[in-house]
Amino acid sequence: MRIMATRFISLLFSLLFLLYSGISFAKPTPSFPSSIIRPEKISLSTPTEPYQEKFFTQVLDHYTFRPQSYKTFQQRYLISEKYWGGAEKNAPIFLYTGNEGDIDWFAQNTGFIVDIAPHFKALLVFIEHRFYGKSMPFGGNKDVAYSNSSTLGYLTSTQALADYATLIIDLKKNLSAADSPVVVFGGSYGGMLAAWFRLKYPHVAIGALASSSPILNFENITSPYSFNNIITQDFRGESEDCYRVIKRSWQEIEDTASKPGGLDLLRNNYISASSLHNWLYTAWVYTAMTDYPTPSNFLSPMPAYPVKEMCKAIDDPKTGNNTFTKLYGAASVYYNYSGTATCFDLDDDSDPHGLGGWSWQACTEMIMPTSGNNEDSIFTASKWNYDDRAASCEAYFGVEPRPSWITTEFGGHDIKRVLKRFGSNIIFFNGLRDPWSGGGVLENISSSIVAIVAKQGAHHVDLRFATSEDPKWLQDVRKREVNIIAKWLSEYYEDLDPAY
Ligand SMILES: *[C@@H]1O[C@H](CO)[C@@H](O)[C@H](O)[C@H]1NC(C)=O
Ligand SMILES: *[C@@H]1O[C@H](CO)[C@@H](O)[C@H](O)[C@H]1NC(C)=O
Ligand SMILES: *[C@@H]1O[C@H](CO)[C@@H](O)[C@H](O)[C@H]1NC(C)=O
Ligand SMILES: *[C@@H]1O[C@H](CO)[C@@H](O)[C@H](O)[C@H]1NC(C)=O
Ligand SMILES: *[C@@H]1O[C@H](CO)[C@@H](O)[C@H](O)[C@H]1NC(C)=O
Ligand SMILES: *[C@@H]1O[C@H](CO)[C@@H](O)[C@H](O)[C@H]1NC(C)=O
Repeated sequence: MRIMATRFISLLFSLLFLLYSGISFAKPTPSFPSSIIRPEKISLSTPTEPYQEKFFTQVLDHYTFRPQSYKTFQQRYLISEKYWGGAEKNAPIFLYTGNEGDIDWFAQNTGFIVDIAPHFKALLVFIEHRFYGKSMPFGGNKDVAYSNSSTLGYLTSTQALADYATLIIDLKKNLSAADSPVVVFGGSYGGMLAAWFRLKYPHVAIGALASSSPILNFENITSPYSFNNIITQDFRGESEDCYRVIKRSWQEIEDTASKPGGLDLLRNNYISASSLHNWLYTAWVYTAMTDYPTPSNFLSPMPAYPVKEMCKAIDDPKTGNNTFTKLYGAASVYYNYSGTATCFDLDDDSDPHGLGGWSWQACTEMIMPTSGNNEDSIFTASKWNYDDRAASCEAYFGVEPRPSWITTEFGGHDIKRVLKRFGSNIIFFNGLRDPWSGGGVLENISSSIVAIVAKQGAHHVDLRFATSEDPKWLQDVRKREVNIIAKWLSEYYEDLDPAY
C-alpha cells in the first residue's frame, strides 16, 4: 500500500500530514541567481569502513506464541571486526540500534563510532530495524510486508528492541564474547531506541549514547509548537529579512494562485505540477535539521551551515523583490547544491533511503506532535490537531493510533524525577538548532544520566565522521562523550574483575 496524497516528511520521523492547499506548481524558468554558493568541489568525508553484511534468522513476534505462517524473517546487520580487541580480552561491542531506513545509510552517517573504535578496540555492529532495508518480514517481500495492518502490525518499537537484544545475545554467544560489554548508540529514532534499550535491557547494554533522541516529544510533555519554533529561530537568527520573506511567501503563493491566470503564471514558472508548499516546506525543515558546520550529504548534498546559505540567497540584492526568485535560490541550496539537478520534480516522492515504513509507525505509536505554529512561526499559524492525524491514519491504514502507548511503555512524564532514582549510563546529546531538540532531554538527570547540549549543534551532528574543519565545540562534545563511555567501560571491567 502506498501512502500518497499527503507528504510524509518521514525522515527521522515527523510525518507531517501537510494539508496544504494542494495547488500545483512547476519549475521556474525565469532568471534565477546563478551565483548560489556552490564551490567547485564538495569535500565530504566519505566512510570507507568495510562492514560485512550478515543476516540473522529473527523471531517475527517476540511477544506471543501464536502459530503463524511466517514465524521468522531474515534480519540484516553490518559488522566490522577491524578494530576489535577480541573476546579473550573482553573487548567492547559498539552496537548501533538501527532506525527507520536502510542500515548502510545510517552506518555511512555514523562515522563517530568508526572514529573512536580503534581507541576502544571495539567490535562494531549496526542492526537494521525490522521492516526497513533488507530486513523485511514475510519472506523478504516488501509488498506483502507493507500490505495492511495484519502484516505491518509487527512493526513496533518494542519488537525492534527485542530483535536487537536477541541478535546481540546470539552474536556474543557465537563469538564466545559473553563478557564483552555492549554500548549502544543511536541517532534520532535510533537514539530513542538506544535510550530505551538501556532502560529495558540493562543486562545487555552497559550504557547508551542517545543522540538527538526526542523521547519527550509526545503529547502533554513537549509543546507541539516547539518543533517549528526552533526552525523559525534558526532562520530568523540568520536574518530578519530571510524570516520575513519565507513567512509571507505562503500567503503570496496562495494569492498568486487565486488571481485570474495565477495558476498558469505559476505553472509557467514551475515545470512539473506539484505542491510548491510541500516542496519548500521540506527544504526548510530538513535544512534546519541538518544545519551542520561542515559540508555534508545526509539527506542531500549541502554546504556548511546551509541555513545561513539559504538566507544569503534570499537576501541577495540581485533577486530584487521577487519572492519566487528568492525562494528558488534558497531551495536550491537543499535541492541543487551539487549543481546536477536538471529540473526539479516537485511531486517527487522517491524514497532513496527506504523511510516509508515510518508512516505506519507515525500512525500507531509515534504520535509526536510537531505541527503547531504560533503567530510568529515562519510557517502559517496552525494548531496541532490529534483528530486530523487519527482520521488520516484511519483512512490510510484503518488503524487507530495509541498516543499514550509510548509513555506507558517507556515513560517520559516527569523524567527527571523518575530516572534520578532509576537507571544509569545514558548520554542524551542535543543540538539546539535541531527542531527535534525541543523534545529531547536537555537537563542532567543524575551523575550518570547526562545531557550534553550544544547551542550550535544540529541533528545528531556528534555522530558524524570527524573532519578537519570541525569547530571546537563539536570536538569538545565528542571528547566528553568518549570520556563518559570510557568511564562506563572501566567501571564495568572493575566489576568484572576487581584486579583488572
Ligand atoms: C492483508 O494482507 C495480507 C498479505 O498480503 C493478505 O493476505 C490479507 O488478505 C490482507 N487483509 C486484508 C483485510 O486486506
Ligand atoms: C550464530 O551462529 C549460528 C550458527 O552458525 C547462525 O545460524 C546465527 O545466524 C549466528 N548468529 C548471528 C547473530 O550471526
Ligand atoms: C517587497 O514585496 C513585499 C510583498 O510583495 C512588500 O510588502 C514589500 O514592501 C516590498 N519591498 C520593497 C522594497 O519593494
Ligand atoms: C542546478 O545548478 C546548476 C549549476 O548552477 C544549474 O546549471 C542548473 O540549472 C540548476 N538546476 C535547476 C533545476 O535549477
Ligand atoms: C493530554 O491531555 C489531555 C487533557 O488532559 C487529554 O485529553 C489527552 O488524552 C492527553 N493525551 C495523551 C496522549 O495522554
Ligand atoms: C551536566 O553536568 C556536567 C557536569 O557533570 C556539566 O558540565 C554539564 O554542563 C551539565 N549539562 C547540562 C545540560 O546542564
